[in-house]
Amino acid sequence: MTNPSLLILPGDGIGPEVMAEVRKVIDWFGAKRDLTIDVQEGLVGGASYDAHGTPLTDETMELAQSVDAVLLGAVGGPKYDNLDFSVKPERGLLRLRKEMDLYSNLRPAQCFDALADFSSLKKDVVAGLDIMIVRELTSGIYFGEPRGIIEEGNERVGINTQRYTESEIARVARSAFELARKRGNKVCSMEKANVMESGILWRDVVTEVHQAEYPDVELSHMYADAGAMQLCRWPKQFDVIVTDNLFGDLLSDAAAMLTGSLGMLPSASLGAPMANGRPKAMYEPVHGSAPDIAGQGKANPIACILSFAMALRYSYDQGAEADRLEAAIETVLAQGARTGDLLGPEGGTPISTSEMGDAIIGALDASL
Ligand code: IPM
Ligand code: MG
Repeated sequence: MTNPSLLILPGDGIGPEVMAEVRKVIDWFGAKRDLTIDVQEGLVGGASYDAHGTPLTDETMELAQSVDAVLLGAVGGPKYDNLDFSVKPERGLLRLRKEMDLYSNLRPAQCFDALADFSSLKKDVVAGLDIMIVRELTSGIYFGEPRGIIEEGNERVGINTQRYTESEIARVARSAFELARKRGNKVCSMEKANVMESGILWRDVVTEVHQAEYPDVELSHMYADAGAMQLCRWPKQFDVIVTDNLFGDLLSDAAAMLTGSLGMLPSASLGAPMANGRPKAMYEPVHGSAPDIAGQGKANPIACILSFAMALRYSYDQGAEADRLEAAIETVLAQGARTGDLLGPEGGTPISTSEMGDAIIGALDASL
């Protein structure tokens, strides 16, 4: 039997340093759990631009298509702000999503007990929070045509197009309903059917898929602006939220911040099943490249390590080992291990990125 495979793309900013801690975890599973993963590494984003003049080479794209899963750190940074749009670091990430057809982006917003005090919301509003945002990731206004900046009369006009086909809506809706069945069995679909035709179609198709295939799941609909308000007011009313690419981008940042732990949240981007029956997949932390703290050993590696835990669960069929890794992270937090982002207003002494990684390895050892 061949080992499961993983392509690691550390990317820019804090990407490489958090990925180094994931490497320790991967090595631990190989040594202690007989779970050997064949790891290859490549460049994406600014790092790839610096080396090859493009944010993603065709070779790396091909490699990504051939492995069981991709784990990406982060892309972007001020150094690349003035690059031509077509070679900006973000284009590398968007190409991966589009060409791998990773249409379903799972973004959990979970409040860790040890961190409930850090939320900008009151503790009772967020304690125990566990919601999942399912964001459509390969269509909508991010990719719709026509797009561009054109001349019209004597001024420039910026154009982007929101476009959704029925099948694009139906497949991401199915993914949300499937997930809900394994969780709280509730889906709330968010769009702007009051002002957008694509929103009307979104609502219709989600309703049709629900009636035909998932009548056992509780479905509700909300306008996305009201949804944003409800997320801040009483987020625990939600279980799974399904929404389009742009609304999902905004709502998932808001939801992540509610938990007080942007540096803690992983994500999975899933596509159609491959020959092995598992979905095509890319995993990445929700946080960005954090150029302000890059290279200083201050970054929190937990979001990236939890992204690997999602890979264990969704790509490698190792749910029990994913549970073990998540429990190890809960343990180190309960023991008080804190990187700088996890220190409240009262301060304290932060540990470094690699000390956090080592603490997690220690908790993994203790789990045996
Ligand atoms: C995200 C990011 C990306 C997006 C950027 C980096 C292209 O904000 O993954 O949420 O807009 O999708
Ligand atoms: Mg975003």
